[in-house]
Formats: sequence, structure tokens, C-alpha cells
Amino acid sequence: MRASATAHSGYVIGQVDSRVFGSFVEHLGRAVYTGIYEPDHPSADANGMRQDVIDLVRELDVPIVRYPGGNFVSAYYWEDGIGPVDERPTRLDLAWHSSESNAVGIHEFADWADAAGTEMMLAVNLGSRGLDPARNFLEYVNHPGGSYWSDLRKKNGRDEPWNVKMWCLGNEMDGPWQTGQKTADEYGRIAFETAKAMRAYDKSLELVVCGSSTPTMPTYPQWEATVLDHTYDVVDFISLHMYFKNHAADTATYLAEAARLDDYIGTVAGIIQFIKAKKRSKRDVYISFDEWNVWYHSEEQDKKVLEGNSGWPEAPALLEDIYNFEDVLQVGCILNTFIRRADVVKVACLAQLVNVIAPIMTVEGGPAWRQTTFWPFLFASKYARGLAFDLAVDCPGYATDAFADVPYLDVAAVKSDVDGALTVFIVSRHETETIDFTLSLEGFGDRQIIEDKVIAGHDLRATNGPDGEPVAPMDGAGATVGAGRLAVSVPPLSYRMIRLGA
Ligand code: AHR
Repeated sequence: MRASATAHSGYVIGQVDSRVFGSFVEHLGRAVYTGIYEPDHPSADANGMRQDVIDLVRELDVPIVRYPGGNFVSAYYWEDGIGPVDERPTRLDLAWHSSESNAVGIHEFADWADAAGTEMMLAVNLGSRGLDPARNFLEYVNHPGGSYWSDLRKKNGRDEPWNVKMWCLGNEMDGPWQTGQKTADEYGRIAFETAKAMRAYDKSLELVVCGSSTPTMPTYPQWEATVLDHTYDVVDFISLHMYFKNHAADTATYLAEAARLDDYIGTVAGIIQFIKAKKRSKRDVYISFDEWNVWYHSEEQDKKVLEGNSGWPEAPALLEDIYNFEDVLQVGCILNTFIRRADVVKVACLAQLVNVIAPIMTVEGGPAWRQTTFWPFLFASKYARGLAFDLAVDCPGYATDAFADVPYLDVAAVKSDVDGALTVFIVSRHETETIDFTLSLEGFGDRQIIEDKVIAGHDLRATNGPDGEPVAPMDGAGATVGAGRLAVSVPPLSYRMIRLGA
């Protein structure tokens, strides 16, 4: 089978914002406790943070991390997480049926973010709380001093403000599982008033309003239209979330889900334009896809805790999906979709970062290790920051129940801001055939292959673990560049990343 594409240096989709390779740490399961924070761990730094985890986060080069939730934020009292640790209250977390010690709060997380070389994206509670705690939190975090909340921060040991720019106005407020779920009008009003107050403090903040928690919500897509109608003038992003599942072990259908993601982005982009036109507005609102990942492997084992049959455990193992090789392909397709929608998706957060549906796992008291999905995320994070190109792809496809024509090859290309290399990301959905793929390069000058990595040949259910990481990239072979053309044979069910240097 053959497929071809053309990359033209003038056919630019847009700049891939580095924040598309963001992630998420929630007070959920072992993400914080025994994930990023484990004071008794042999690698713990002076703040009790696991250095082995920090090293892996640095390897992924995550530019921004959303915190502290997620569902958790919808009943969170941020004030519980400040002041002397031994005086902080233990609270019942309704979202994850767990006990929250508050040993980690904003100070500890900010120190961790600093150590991990990432920025914070903070969420305020618009579920059980509202405007006042949100503006107080903002003052605590960003005001230099001379006010009640900023002076309290200083008293608690942090002199300089953290100057956090991105703030999420609640989380998934359309979801019945949320503490303080709201209708679109109720949420739109509280989000508008909270955004107004936060902007009254600092006009330059970047505010994210909640879109639907998934495109299967009954209120989608009217939710987006109503919420943006209330908030368009005061927000910068609308947040989308989507999780991917393959309960039926049907690879073809599973790997076609990126088409649903693309539709979702396209629909919301259209709603943004509709509201912009309706309001005769000159400002633009973009998409913050601040939760996405594969999430289904752990669902069965989580039921006991989530249904309340384990009491209120502290940091129980929850959402500990162990990813397989098939998920490498899925994550590769999702990242390619974000690259192809770089015109409108300006922030995205892999949910989550450590232990909870995460690329990085830890053993309490033991090693940290890389899941299979660590790799496609790492390659995109390292090499997809730059200009994304609209590739004219000509590739045979297949039909699923939901989609008429899903191309066997999923391709995206980005020219790096850093070194000008053109990186091509290719995922093959074909289950049996090798595809001979050629990419014509127009306007990119002479190019040569400077790196070629492939993840292929594994059993679809192959996984990594603390004792070994067999699903990892290898050097690719056989690709050639000549006469303005990249030629590569793409094996069935494979991930490939080829960098073409100038
Ligand atoms: O990431 C896990 C959970 O998924 C988040 O807490 C919530 O926002 C979403 O439903």
C-alpha cells in the first residue's frame, strides 16, 4: 500500500504553543502523595519531593502543570493548604472518597513546579465556593505585599509572589459527579463575575472557562454557546476534556477516536466564532484542552474506593492505568490532532502526570518508571514546538461505525522554533500492511535525516513496569531523503518520528 503527502513551507496552520505539552497534577490517588511528594523516599529533596520524579518530568520538558484539580477542586479550601503543616486540617475529599491531609498546598506545589522547571496553571473552586475565595487566592498567590492575603503568604515563608498567569474558573461544572454542578446559565454567571473580579486585579491574567467535560455530555454543545455568551468578553480560553477507551479491544475503532477529537475541536472552534460574531467582538478565545488521555484500564479496580467501600483512605491507588503499546499509537494520534489544530488549541494538559493516568509511575519507597505513553509525549514535547503545516495527505482509509474514512496513516509535521528542523510524526493504524509513504518537501531547502525513532513490533498489550521498560523507541532504519522527498516504509501499527535537519 502507498500513501503520500506534501509539506509546503507556505501552508502554515499556525504556531504550536509550547503549552500544548502541558500536564496536570491533582490531589487524587497517589499523584501528590507518594507521587511527587514522599518525604521518606531515598531521593526526596529538602521539601520532601521525589527527585527521581522531578528528573523524569524535566525529561518530558512539561511547560505548564494544572493544579490542584480536577474534580478535587470543586470542594477544595485552598486555605487548608497554607501555614504550619502540622496545624493543617484533614478533610474528606468527596470527589475521590479519600482523606486529604493538606500536607501539600500551594507553597509546596509551587516549590515543586520550580524544581521541575514548569509553570503553574491554577484552578479555583466554583463548585462549592465562589468569587471571594477565588479572588483571595489570586491575591495570596500574585500580590507582592501590603494586603491581608499577600502578607499572610509572606508570613508563611514566601516573600515573592508567584505571578501565576493562567487560572481555570472551576472544573467540569456540567458534570453530575461534580460537587456543586451547575446549569450553563448558573455557571456562566458565576464564571463571568469571578473573571471580572480577577481581571479587576490584573487585566493580563489568562482565564479559562469550563466547556463540556466530554463531547458525549447531553448538554454539549449548547453548554459551550451559553457559557461563552456569558463570558466571552472576560475569558481567553474555553476548556475541553476527553478521555479515550478501548473496552471492546477493537483496535481499528479505538485508533479512529482521533477523528472524534477533531470533530469536537472543530465544533467548539465554530461556537467560538459564532459567539465572537454575535458579540461583534474583536478579541479571540482559544481552546485549552486541559484534560486528555487514555483512561479505562483501571476502571474496574477503582470501583471499591470510588463507591465508598474502602472508607476514606489517604492516597489510595486510583486511576493507575498501566498503558500498553496500543496506547502509544492512540497518544501519538491525539498529539498529531492537536498539532493539526494549532490554530485554535493553544493549551493542552496530559491528564495526568504522575501515578494517576500518567506517563510517570512510582513505587512507594521504590523506583519511578516510564509508561509506554511517555515516549510519544516526549517526542512531541521536544520537537513539535514551532510552525505546524497543513499537509496534503493522500492515504487510503477504513470505515468504522462512526466514521466513513479514517486514514491508515496519521501524519503531522512541525518546523522547530529552536533549530529549524522539520519533524514528521507518523502513526500507522494499519493492522497488517506496511505502507510506503512519501512526503514531498516544498520550500524547505535541502534536508537530511538527523534523527529517526520508531516504536513498533510489540504485542498491542505489551506494557512497561518498575522492572523493565521494553516498550521504548528504537532507531528507525531505511528512511531516505533525496530530491525534495522523504521516503519511508511504515510498518503496521507503528509510531515514527523523523527529524529533518536543514
Ligand atoms: O483526571 C481525572 C478526572 O477526570 C478529573 O478530576 C476530572 O476533571 C475529570 O473528570
